[in-house]
Amino acid sequence: MSATLDIAAVRAAFPGISDADAYLDSAATAQKPAAMLDALRWAYTEACANVHRGVHRRSQLATDAMEDARETIATFLGAAAPEEIVFVRGATEGLNLLAHGLSALRLQAGDEVLVTAMEHHANLVPWQLACDRVGATLRAIPLTADGALDLSALDEVLTERTRILACVHASNSLGTINPVTELARRAHAVGALCVVDGTQMVVHGPVDVQALGVDAYVMSGHKLYGPTGIGALWARRELLEAMPPYQGGGEMIRTVTLQSSTWNDVPHKFEAGTPHIAGAIGLGASIDWLTGLGWDAVAAHERDVLDYAIAALDTVPDLRRVGTAEPRVPLLGFVLEGVHPHDVGSILDQHGVAVRTGHHCTQPVMDHFDLAATVRASFAVHSTRAEVDRLVDGLLAVRTVFGRRST
Ligand code: ALA
Repeated sequence: MSATLDIAAVRAAFPGISDADAYLDSAATAQKPAAMLDALRWAYTEACANVHRGVHRRSQLATDAMEDARETIATFLGAAAPEEIVFVRGATEGLNLLAHGLSALRLQAGDEVLVTAMEHHANLVPWQLACDRVGATLRAIPLTADGALDLSALDEVLTERTRILACVHASNSLGTINPVTELARRAHAVGALCVVDGTQMVVHGPVDVQALGVDAYVMSGHKLYGPTGIGALWARRELLEAMPPYQGGGEMIRTVTLQSSTWNDVPHKFEAGTPHIAGAIGLGASIDWLTGLGWDAVAAHERDVLDYAIAALDTVPDLRRVGTAEPRVPLLGFVLEGVHPHDVGSILDQHGVAVRTGHHCTQPVMDHFDLAATVRASFAVHSTRAEVDRLVDGLLAVRTVFGRRST
């Protein structure tokens, strides 16, 4: 596979994007390629039936397609087997499932859970709830001034009492890629498990959960060019076997009496009720589409746009980037001195540039930088240098609106 992306062909693959505006909010949710939309349509027409229940042809078609998608995700994440992949609504549900199941297995009063100060609330609040339930303590790895983890503090916060280390692979507000292999090794050295939120990472490069040496990993489909309402959780099989069910209902049981029930095999033990069948099939299609471009080509293109954007933002007076550490995924947080991020976002929108503004569900990150909010521009496989130019023009217009005409 050539390491050069045919960017015109890539952009043409997205019915929802055009040169009329610049969508720089893919880290919030990605635009959808036609290949994924076609798969959704197929799932809701040709294969519209429930799964694992029917003896008829359509049900078999839907079941096979959904299980094929599970296999695609298993390969995508480097799982040992498709049975280690649980379909969930998204990373948030995956992390709640893990906080529920692993705390039942591992956590007692006096124990500690270690997170990082750059977690998305989805990988923070579930652990707060779990700690509150059992009387455990939540601790956090602090951040450096450039938005990396301060690993010099690890000896203090990772102790013999730590039972679970939950960390984000790539930060959604800072872009920082964390040294997950090292964190997993350190966690295991004190007998703790390592749970990783891979939502922002899996979109931009290959991930191999076994090579990383982690114990559980979650991702959302909608940031991966897939449908909303679907995601995947990977965990080592023995953990899935040992964890109690998360929700009760159909499909997750083997036998039910009025008094008690027994559980289906993994992963079905964690998939109560009718799943998001079309979503799973669509997610499989979006992964096939993305990986079909070749990771080398995707990564080289996104890095080119990112480097161009870093240099371009540096030319905007009064702009300060928030989170400058490397390595990073292609997103940039920043503030424009004297202008509220929401105003920046609204004026950029008038210039046809979509960015996200706010705390990005990472309020502790904002606290660390003593900010209420930032602006975030995030790039995807279809992003271009021309869109970065448009962003910079928009930012200069923001300065004009706020009366800062010169440096
Ligand atoms: N978690 C998503 C983001 O970072 C919504 O924008």
